Amino acid sequence: MSSRLLYNIRQLVNVRMESALLRGPALADLPCIDHAWLHLEDDRIFSFGKMDDLPEEWRHRLKAGASEQSHSGEDQVRVPEPDVEGIDARGGLVLPAWCDSHTHLVFAGSRESEFVDKIKGLSYAEINAKGGGILNSARKLAATPEGDLFKSAWLRLQELTRLGTGAIEIKSGYGLSVDGELKMLRVIRQLKERSALPVKATFLGAHTYPAEYRDNHQGYIRLIVEEMLPVIAEEGLADYIDVFCEHGFFSPAETEQILTAGLGYGLIPKIHANQLNLSGGVETGVRLGALSVDHLETMSEETIRVLAASHTIGTLLPTAAFFLRMPFQPARALIDAGCAIALASDFNPGSSPSGNMNLVVAMSCIQMKMLPEEAINAATLNGAFAMGLGNQCGSITPGKKANLIITKPVPSLAYLPYAFGSDLIEAVLIDGQKI
Ligand code: NIG
Ligand code: FE
Repeated sequence: MSSRLLYNIRQLVNVRMESALLRGPALADLPCIDHAWLHLEDDRIFSFGKMDDLPEEWRHRLKAGASEQSHSGEDQVRVPEPDVEGIDARGGLVLPAWCDSHTHLVFAGSRESEFVDKIKGLSYAEINAKGGGILNSARKLAATPEGDLFKSAWLRLQELTRLGTGAIEIKSGYGLSVDGELKMLRVIRQLKERSALPVKATFLGAHTYPAEYRDNHQGYIRLIVEEMLPVIAEEGLADYIDVFCEHGFFSPAETEQILTAGLGYGLIPKIHANQLNLSGGVETGVRLGALSVDHLETMSEETIRVLAASHTIGTLLPTAAFFLRMPFQPARALIDAGCAIALASDFNPGSSPSGNMNLVVAMSCIQMKMLPEEAINAATLNGAFAMGLGNQCGSITPGKKANLIITKPVPSLAYLPYAFGSDLIEAVLIDGQKI
């Protein structure tokens, strides 16, 4: 058993004895302890309290450590016992690591030439006509061996971990063929097996129609239902199923057909809805009991009402709206209507080539007028619930995984989204270990 004590924490953030999904006004309630300590046992959170109330035993060890140190001339307080590691937070904040519930982390290459074409004025349709978009990523993926895909995804995952992400959902969807989709899902399974982060896999075979099925939608849906889903279920390759429900992609009826087949294999829907239009995706997702409906750039009063009255989480992806120069998601209207919302990065080469959750949180405050407390809850606890990890991650709760962010010394919690371009992360702990 290994014990660690984090001490000199200016503020321990999102401290809860029990955790539940937060909706409406509850999202602004972010319980914190000022001047705190946090005790970890192995990979788990064990207990916490105020520095003033640090148990005598621990205080004694810290003092012993301090006097030993003063002999050696070092000024940092340390715990001497080999079985107990003291970690001085030096006045930084300690938060649960980010829970990024929507990413396309596995892809075969970047698409910055499309980005430059967009700057020069080409439209989404023109870029698609030039062979860009999702089909561009699908061609690159088809030509990339599984091992190379794994290596590039692994490096991205390491980068995101350094940026504070401590749990992640990853989608397929650039395969668009039986072989391609299975290849992506097997890469995600390897990431699951080799990473210390909790990883959830989502099958997004219905990301777009491959060119050869453009006029034969039922043909591609048959491929998904009859050839992909049975293998995915047999090999346990996915936790969730996703469809891009959007004009020009999958209609609500097609979405329902695919999700119903997925549900038959126990795959709960988490879908792309209302990114570009009032696509009917929110209503379809809610009706089928989706865990989350994601994007939501385009919402009406009616769709907000439907979502608020449901158990489905609305996942907002502000960096995708930012990158595509689209209106930001109506976070305030959603929260005020009583919806449960999460924040995620949508990391992908086409619409959000960044998985930096610090930026997602800042952008949510700056552009969507979320309070810092709301944004942090939405990017931690509600993000955890949006990937079925609400009892494992997303808050400082005894028994949860010790996946944590220690910040540099900052004047307050609000400073994190306020100083949006700065690197404010001092250290990240995964399973209680500094990475
Ligand atoms: O979530 N909207 C659909 N899918 C991705 C973008 C896919 C791409 O352009 O590669 C998204 O934004
Ligand atoms: Fe996405």
